[in-house]
Amino acid sequence: MAADNRIIIFDTTLRDGEQSPGCSMHLDEKLQMAERLDRMGVDVIEAGFPIASQGDFESVSQVAKLVKNAAVAGLCRAKRADIEASAEALAPAKRRRIHTFISTSPLHMKHKLQMPPEAVLDAIAESVSTARNFTDDVEWSAEDATRTEHDFLCKAVETAIANGATTINVPDTVGYTVPEEYAAIFEMLINRVPNIDKAILSVHCHNDLGLAVSNSLAGIRAGARQVECTINGIGERAGNAAMEEVVMAMRTRPDVYPYETGIDTTQITKASRTLSRITGFSVQPNKAIVGANAFAHESGIHQDGMLKNAQTYEIMTPESVGLFKSEIVLGKHSGRHALKKKVEELGYELGDNAFQDLFKRFKDLADKKKTVFDEDIIALVGDDRELNERIKFVSLMVKAGSDGQSALLKLEIDGEEKETESAGNGPVDAIFNAIGELFPHEADLPLYQVHAVTGGTDAQAEVTVKLEENGNTGLGQSADVDTMVASARAYVYALNKLLRKREKTAKVVGP
Ligand code: KIV
Ligand code: ZN
Repeated sequence: MAADNRIIIFDTTLRDGEQSPGCSMHLDEKLQMAERLDRMGVDVIEAGFPIASQGDFESVSQVAKLVKNAAVAGLCRAKRADIEASAEALAPAKRRRIHTFISTSPLHMKHKLQMPPEAVLDAIAESVSTARNFTDDVEWSAEDATRTEHDFLCKAVETAIANGATTINVPDTVGYTVPEEYAAIFEMLINRVPNIDKAILSVHCHNDLGLAVSNSLAGIRAGARQVECTINGIGERAGNAAMEEVVMAMRTRPDVYPYETGIDTTQITKASRTLSRITGFSVQPNKAIVGANAFAHESGIHQDGMLKNAQTYEIMTPESVGLFKSEIVLGKHSGRHALKKKVEELGYELGDNAFQDLFKRFKDLADKKKTVFDEDIIALVGDDRELNERIKFVSLMVKAGSDGQSALLKLEIDGEEKETESAGNGPVDAIFNAIGELFPHEADLPLYQVHAVTGGTDAQAEVTVKLEENGNTGLGQSADVDTMVASARAYVYALNKLLRKREKTAKVVGP
């Protein structure tokens, strides 16, 4: 047990988070996210499951090369091949952790593993001691720990520690436990496992009952000193405990949670936005800490109180999570300097080319809209426009209304302009049909999402399109005051991304 009150933040956005439907990330996206996590002070980054696929192996290996401060972890089952793959993928890391797990609940042992409890204990001993040949930092997890018989859980934990595990994780794999019960499990382990002082205890909670954060905090109060969590709470099914909520609960209520983390909380908003942009999964407006309304005060009584003293209705400041109030109002007369300042305040870092491109698009937008809000800038930054793509959007004319819908679309494909007119069941369908005519492809469209960035009839529409083909996905986002233009662009960006990904693995479809 760690004697002090320092809580280790183990982020599993790139592993458990990435396992959630629709959240899969590609290598460059994982690297971007890993860099953010490292910068914000995460102690351990779980980068993936190296044996799962060549792609997973490669991303763990690249994250291991990139990360400067955090330890990098790779997940493995209790199998030698898994452990060797993890060790190899983690080899470039400054600090590496092998994380091995096996189920311990009667249900999982009988139906999933089809192994008797004695064989599971042998597998724990074997896997942990094998992992210790590669690193001194070995984490062992009892999958489905919260539905495991206590006597067996104690034996399993004792075996793992006796064989060299330095962290013991007690996952609530199916999100079944409640705070009092979860705390009691940690108290029980601390009281009954003779070698428990040789390892750090860890919480890992899923959110099926909406209790992941409460359970994690209860586990910490009962003696755990590591919390496994994800940005925005993404993860299997209902997700994992949200890092921003756990960290801000400790920071805001030190009277109840007198613990410290290494997290620079002013990086929270940036990390949340980076992840939303990469996955296309925006957080709900009322999401704690990072939702668009988390610091908004709508009712007259609240606004009045806030004006008199912000603490009347604000338990933490927006600045503490990296959300800065801005004096800069952008409009068509604003210059580069003002835009740059705004972009920085919003938490983005753009290279020169990306900033020049953003400035041009900002000017175009400011010509169409009286006031350009922060949300407009966030949407413009999220727009996936890229210069060197095979397919470029050129122009679009849409006919809509009760007499039928069609789209006259011009694209530049491999440097050559092509135009077609297509009909469809609605204008969006007509546009997507036109893209399919100009560039035939087989991709499915699992996601088409539109959201108004701000209020008002001149609001920008932010459109997200996801395409899927043979296991590859391409996600495109675009914002425009014209929903149809944003839809066409988002589709084209998604298609370009899909093509790039397919080029790496197989021959590209298309003309
Ligand atoms: O939820 C779980 O049990 C897990 C383990 C693999 C740690 O994610
Ligand atoms: Zn999990």
